[in-house]
Amino acid sequence: MTLDVLLEAAVNAATEAGRILEQGFGTSFDIASKEGRHNLVTEYDLASENCIISVLQSYTPTAAILTEESGAHAGTGQLTWVIDPLDGTVNFAHGIPIFCVSIAAVIDGAVCAGVIHHPLLQETFTATAGGGAHLNGEPLHVSRTTLLEDAILVTGFPYNVHENPSKCIYTFGSMLSLGIPVRRLGSAALDLAYVAAGRFDGYWEVELQPWDMAAGALMVHEAGGAVTHYGNRPFRVGRDSILATNGRIHQQLARVISQSHA
Ligand code: IPD
Ligand code: CA
Ligand code: CA
Repeated sequence: MTLDVLLEAAVNAATEAGRILEQGFGTSFDIASKEGRHNLVTEYDLASENCIISVLQSYTPTAAILTEESGAHAGTGQLTWVIDPLDGTVNFAHGIPIFCVSIAAVIDGAVCAGVIHHPLLQETFTATAGGGAHLNGEPLHVSRTTLLEDAILVTGFPYNVHENPSKCIYTFGSMLSLGIPVRRLGSAALDLAYVAAGRFDGYWEVELQPWDMAAGALMVHEAGGAVTHYGNRPFRVGRDSILATNGRIHQQLARVISQSHA
């Protein structure tokens, strides 16, 4: 199957799931806590996930699937779909209109196609390996900012941040001490899509799950940016830290992070 067909499958799944989220947003619905008090799951996370799985399985019945809510589904080929059916659940649950669907096609550990769809704004970010990144079909490029002090950045915090807050506080404090504007949107996938689109110059987060970052990492890379884990380790799909930038400020940001973790 070509990358274009994989992308078509992912876009169709994300668009259909996005309609479900759009219908549910702002209504009253069931909300439950997962491992942590603020780690929520709503009936719409589950409805979105079921919809995505059924669309993807109509294209690739033998693919493996890794999703946030139902975990790993075994497959027989090399392809794994990595899915966050609703990234920004806390926003969604509180009526804050910043959330998306994120879907990545991963072959032998490498992300080869991805979509991040923001249903309320009808913004669909896409990327294929070697084929560039696009927003609603228009090519995307990272920003041209060269100095960290001139940058606008975004970050996020894991649900278990209270268990070891210093992991996040020192880095966040270092950025503030440099006078850098920092946003916290509450959706890692949108954070990455916005770096790809040049809206942010860089993004860091101490720990993410594969479904938070697989599609977005490809998007930043294909838009001309750089993506690593902390310590300049090359990006791999898995549970890890992430540092994604326009490339030009990557080492400057990496240095601040490593100094604040020392
Ligand atoms: C979360 C969001 C948030 C990030 C967390 C993620 P969820 O995903 O992406 O921005 O800071 O680390 O877990 O729970 O909304 O899918
Ligand atoms: Ca997520
Ligand atoms: Ca989620």
